Amino acid sequence: MELTQLKEELKGLGVVHQLQHLAEKFKGKIVFSTSFGWEDQVVTHLIFSHHIPIKVFTLETGRLFPETYYVWNRTLEVYQQPIHAYYPQTEAVQQMVNAKGPNSFYESVENRKECCYIRKIEPLKRALANNEMWITGIRAEQSANRDDMENIEWDEGNRLIKFHPIFDWSLQEVRDYIKKNNIVYNTLHDKGFPSIGCAPCTRAVQPGEDFRAGRWWWEDLSKKECGLHAG
Ligand code: ADX
Ligand code: SF4
Repeated sequence: MELTQLKEELKGLGVVHQLQHLAEKFKGKIVFSTSFGWEDQVVTHLIFSHHIPIKVFTLETGRLFPETYYVWNRTLEVYQQPIHAYYPQTEAVQQMVNAKGPNSFYESVENRKECCYIRKIEPLKRALANNEMWITGIRAEQSANRDDMENIEWDEGNRLIKFHPIFDWSLQEVRDYIKKNNIVYNTLHDKGFPSIGCAPCTRAVQPGEDFRAGRWWWEDLSKKECGLHAG
C-alpha cells in the first residue's frame, strides 16, 4: 500500500527533507493549510525559508481575529511568497446571515456546523480539489482525539493523504523554534489562546485547561471539531 511505503520513505528524515521529498513526489499536487497559529507559522517557515514547492493556502472565514490578519500580512512581507485565500461563497453566507443573523452559531450545534460548513468546509473542498497531499500543523498533544492519529494518514472524506510534519513536537519545542528563528506569531498566544480559530468562537483558556477548551467553549467537549479534520 502506498501509505506504508511513504512511511518507510519518510522514516529517519528530518522535517525539511520530509517536506522536500513529498514536494518532489507529489509535484503540483501538494498543499499546506495555514490558520496562522503557532504551529502553522512553524510549518510556513519551513516551507518558505527552504523554498519548498508546496502551495500555501488559508480559509478566510471572514470572522478571524485582527491579530490573525496582522500575522498573515507580516508573513507575506517577511517571506515574499504567496498565501492563497479561499473565501466562502457569497450567496451561501448571505442566505445564512439573512435568515438567522450574524451570530447564529451560538444558538445550536446545528447552526454552528452550518456556519463552519459554509465558511470553512466548502472552501476547503475547493482548496483541496485535484491535490493528492495535504499538509497541516496538527500536533498530537492538541487533543485526546488527535493523540490517536498518526503523522501520516489517508483522508477518506477528501480522498488524499494528510501529513502533519510537526505532529510529535511539544508546545515547548514549537515555542523554542519560533523564538530561535524569529518567526512572526499571533500575539493572542501570549494571552491564553493556545488554539486560535474564528474570533466569535475562540476564547482564552485557564492554566491547566485543555488546549482546545477555548474553541466553541459553549458546546460539549465531544462536539468540538469543526469538521476540517473529521476523524
Ligand atoms: S480546527 O479543526 O479546530 O479548526 P485547528 O485550529 O486545530 O483546526 O488547526 C489544525 C490545522 O487545521 C491547522 O494546522 C491548519 O493546517 C488547519 N486549519 C485550521 N483552520 C484553518 C484555516 N482557517 N485556514 C486554513 N487552515 C486551517
Ligand atoms: Fe462560523 Fe464560528 Fe465555525 Fe468560524 S468557527 S466558521 S464563525 S461557527
